[in-house]
Amino acid sequence: MPHHELVRGLREGLCGVLRGKPLAVDLALIGIFASGHVLLEDVPGVGKTTLAKALAKAFGVRFSRVQFTPDLLPGDITGGLVLAPDKGTFSFHRGPVFTNVLLADEINRASPRTQASLLEAMNEAQVTVDGETHSLDSPFFVIATQNPADYQGTYPLPEAQLDRFLVRLSIGYPDPADELAMLFARQHDDPLAALQALCSRAELLDVQRAVREVEVKPIVASYMLAIVRASRVDPALSLGVSPRGSLALFRAAQAQAFMSGRDYVTPEDVQAIAPATLCHRIALRDEARYGGSSDREVVARILGAVRVPV
Ligand SMILES: Nc1ncnc2c1ncn2[C@@H]1O[C@H](COP(=O)(O)OP(=O)(O)OP(=O)(O)O)[C@@H](O)[C@H]1O
Ligand SMILES: [Mg+2]
Repeated sequence: MPHHELVRGLREGLCGVLRGKPLAVDLALIGIFASGHVLLEDVPGVGKTTLAKALAKAFGVRFSRVQFTPDLLPGDITGGLVLAPDKGTFSFHRGPVFTNVLLADEINRASPRTQASLLEAMNEAQVTVDGETHSLDSPFFVIATQNPADYQGTYPLPEAQLDRFLVRLSIGYPDPADELAMLFARQHDDPLAALQALCSRAELLDVQRAVREVEVKPIVASYMLAIVRASRVDPALSLGVSPRGSLALFRAAQAQAFMSGRDYVTPEDVQAIAPATLCHRIALRDEARYGGSSDREVVARILGAVRVPV
């Protein structure tokens, strides 16, 4: 299937499940096309789990879902050694992380130790259990959901872990017309249950390869780095964007261009994708936060201040 048809089919299919949220759908697709992990962060009931499940179904690949809870142990994700009683030997039992799409639902409800067990998997596509390293499948990506950090009984993801997500996006409330359409779409059947795979594993791998080939001119790459460097010296921030964040911006901008049917990145692609790739990688100083500033505001201000190449 030509790439533009594939993109259109995915967009339509996903927007049929999650009503009135084409931007959220696009951002999630960009994260996946750029071979990254996607974090959906928003208040309860706006469709985070629904979008995550729809994405997992839309790519005809294997997926597993882990509901994160305070008593979840690292081994519940990675797997571990189990005794074969007849033989008296231990063998490695593969946990749910051995899949193509891992849906990590409500990731901030698990203990930091369990969250950390996902780190190696997300960064290196492998897990080490009892000194032995096991490679994960390809493609492998995590779609995680979480409620905003200030909820009781949760463990907000530390910055180092947030940095592992290529994009973070929120969904927000639908417009009245879309919410009305949602009510009637659900009256007789369930759009999520009816969703079929819209893309095969081979097609997904092909798209991910094509995205890596999208051209980034040196002048546009320098523009990305100017944005990143501005975040590192911004007086409102105690933590700027890391080199991993620069890479994320580069890859996500390639995917943004790909979604628009182009094979080269423009400064507008960089601007469009910057909030979703950078906001979760910066930390506001207390003074800035108490002064009512937000990560989105700071990134918008930086984008407004850095000179755009022509
Ligand atoms: N924009 C939308 N379009 C279609 N359905 C929606 C939309 N927003 C919410 N829903 C529906 O509302 C219900 C709740 O959604 P879901 O469980 O995905 O929310 P959530 O964000 O994961 O909530 P929680 O944080 O409580 O887990 C689902 O039945 C979902 O289909
Ligand atoms: Mg949910």
